[in-house]
Amino acid sequence: MRFLHIGSVVALVGSAIYGRLVLTPVLNTLPEPERLRAASDAQGRFRTVAYVLLAVLVGAGLYNLLTGPRHSSAWQMWFGIKMLAVLHFLATSVLWAVSPYGDAVVGGKGKRRLASLAISGLVAILISSYLRYLTQHGG
Ligand code: HEM
Repeated sequence: MRFLHIGSVVALVGSAIYGRLVLTPVLNTLPEPERLRAASDAQGRFRTVAYVLLAVLVGAGLYNLLTGPRHSSAWQMWFGIKMLAVLHFLATSVLWAVSPYGDAVVGGKGKRRLASLAISGLVAILISSYLRYLTQHGG
């Protein structure tokens, strides 16, 4: 379950970083009609993968939570803070997945959801590393 949790996080956050740094800038160099077709194709190719990864991520996270040891109040507090980053991550993921062209520029306007996903995902990973440290030190 730890593998499934971390594996799905690696795939999702890595894809968001690639999309922000590579795919979206390349799409934005195309003329508008080609850009819309390519962006829509790209969304279609990753949408189902993203939903499956999100389901595995949340399912394995809940399993780890419910089967884990009793934790200290410091752990509970940091877990609550992690959940704020996680809720932001989940909401942005769904908004990105349902959008027809992702973050590509449409009619002169682009979005920054992939950057927001990468940042909130990395924040959640950082807090999770600390949670793990607390757990391993009796917290
Ligand atoms: C409903 C959603 C989630 C739940 C219930 C959940 C729950 C948990 C729990 C209980 C742990 C074990 C912590 C410990 O060892 O003390 C964990 C580990 C971890 N979580 Fe989550 N999590 C969720 C979503 C996420 C998200 C969205 C990310 C990153 C974007 C994430 C990243 C991690 C990482 C990297 C670890 C591994 C820490 C380690 O073992 O070194 N989790 N999670």
